[in-house]
Amino acid sequence: MCGIVGYTGKREAYPIIIKGLRRLEYRGYDSAGVALVNEDGLKVYKKKGKVADLEDTLVGVNLHSHTGIGHTRWATHGEPSDRNAHPHTSQNGEIAMIHNGIIENYAQLKNELLKKGYTFKSDTDTEVLLNFIENIKTNNNSTLEEAVRIALRRIVGAYCILLVDKHDPETIIAARKGSPLVIGIGKGEHFLASDASPIIEYTKEVVYVNDYEMAIIRPDELILKNLGNEKQTPFITKLDMELAAIEKGGYDHFMLKEIFEQPTTIQDCLRGRLDAEAGTIIMSGIEKYIGQIMDAPRIIIVACGTSWHAGLVAEYIIEETCRIPVEVEYASEFRYRNPVVNKGDVIIAISQSGETADTLVAIEKAKEQGAIIVGIVNAVGSSIARVSHTGAYTHAGPEIGVASTKAFTAQLAVLTMVALKVGYAKGTLEKDRYLQLCKDLAEIPAKAAEVLKLDNQIKTLAEKYKDAPDFLYLGRGYNFPVALEGALKLKEISYIHAEGYPAAEMKHGPIALVTEVLPVVFVATKDNYHAKVVSNMQEIKARKGKVISIITEGDTVSPTLSDDVIILPPTDEILAPMLSAIPLQLLAYHIGVAKGYDVDKPRNLAKSVTVE
Ligand code: AGP
Ligand code: GLU
Repeated sequence: MCGIVGYTGKREAYPIIIKGLRRLEYRGYDSAGVALVNEDGLKVYKKKGKVADLEDTLVGVNLHSHTGIGHTRWATHGEPSDRNAHPHTSQNGEIAMIHNGIIENYAQLKNELLKKGYTFKSDTDTEVLLNFIENIKTNNNSTLEEAVRIALRRIVGAYCILLVDKHDPETIIAARKGSPLVIGIGKGEHFLASDASPIIEYTKEVVYVNDYEMAIIRPDELILKNLGNEKQTPFITKLDMELAAIEKGGYDHFMLKEIFEQPTTIQDCLRGRLDAEAGTIIMSGIEKYIGQIMDAPRIIIVACGTSWHAGLVAEYIIEETCRIPVEVEYASEFRYRNPVVNKGDVIIAISQSGETADTLVAIEKAKEQGAIIVGIVNAVGSSIARVSHTGAYTHAGPEIGVASTKAFTAQLAVLTMVALKVGYAKGTLEKDRYLQLCKDLAEIPAKAAEVLKLDNQIKTLAEKYKDAPDFLYLGRGYNFPVALEGALKLKEISYIHAEGYPAAEMKHGPIALVTEVLPVVFVATKDNYHAKVVSNMQEIKARKGKVISIITEGDTVSPTLSDDVIILPPTDEILAPMLSAIPLQLLAYHIGVAKGYDVDKPRNLAKSVTVE
């Protein structure tokens, strides 16, 4: 989620805030805004687009203030627009708030407020929380601090919020759960931000606010409390990171940061949708299309690159759980040939950016032919999301690294939930298996965190194999698309030629490539094909190829045929790609780094291919 900046102190607030928002631009965003409060009241300026666009509208405006808050938005609820940009103001116009995160139970709170006569200027979950706070403050005649504390006890979801009150022009109220907040300690001034990058030039003394903590900040005062209104002692640390390192969260590259974000981003994807205990999957975006998806004579998945690989995994899952025929098409091929698309066909478009030209044109053509378009997109309000009849956002947050990592596993999480939901509704997925898969899916974020602990082992592997001229990646069933994805990752950031193949296809040609210097990566987690994959390993070993196998703990056979083994925690074969993709991401990353390449911006590549 995106960027937050706040300031209160002796200096003019606006220049500090706007510079801080520019510092946070690297995180990716779609709109920006500031709220400034002074003795004359509260002013809010916000706009879809870049921080520079916002600045352009403020030339010549009187921005005098010593207290203010600023926000760069990565939309999750409500498309990018001026009215959905933050800061939001409460209905009575007295409070302004900015928010990073997702309020899961916003719909229920909004209904309660609508019944109380509240109206809303935006489509965001943020404005709902703000009016919920205002309503408590008004009803209880309480302070803003107390109203925030009471409100947050009812909130389900992730937040970092900053609030200012026109009647208290020196104070900022802040709170966090799940989204980061750093407070910089100055002399007669305080700075707040999502990370230290907007703060470090003013002070190196910072407080990292913890989940369920609130802060009441004035120029000369920082009070930290928990939601039980008990004072907490601020733990002041000294920043020792340089600016560049802070932007990457202490990681060397955005790609590594995003690989390590996956336990959180998969959790964010499931948040508010999967309730494994109750055995429910609620996807508000597609609920009213479930019937048409269930009855679809055919599902066509269109995508490019990594998203196309996610589509291949989805093909296997949907056919197994929903018994609906699925075809997976490269969007670039689909759009140019004269495909047969019938009314009632369901097209699933998968795209991280939501702006890939081939995918966009493919679904526009299919829509004209009467198909129902389901968009699985990361960027809220993007072109593909807008063209789709329905869909679900992957909530992976901005993906800065050109090589797609966290978006891939988030796509798999969403597609899996869609398949389980439709299969169970259709009755083609029997109840026990459905409930077990819901439970196993809920455990994936924790298991992904387990897999990430293998990073050092994989870094060593990268050193061992980084000079190989070619790689082969092999897998069967659900692991075949993961083999393709592993090969793409390696190609695009280490520039080593790599091919993914169905393991059984080796004997139809590729086995001629096997020599003692060819590393062959087997994606061989436990599944129904495992015995067959083992025989493929034997074929490689017999020809002196090097075998690197990704296996499930407890597999005692594969290691006897492997030169190197990466052991993953067990999970259902349908869910395994969300785990087995991670070591392949890390292997590609470390080989690219070992070879000295710019893994965040690989040569010849763009993050979003908006050209044909
Ligand atoms: C994946 O690592 C690449 N960056 C690329 O293949 C990407 O997946 C493809 O261009 C599709 O992009 P999209 O998901 O934004 O549509
Ligand atoms: N959920 C809020 C919105 O969609 C905040 C998004 C963010 O973290 O930027 O406006």
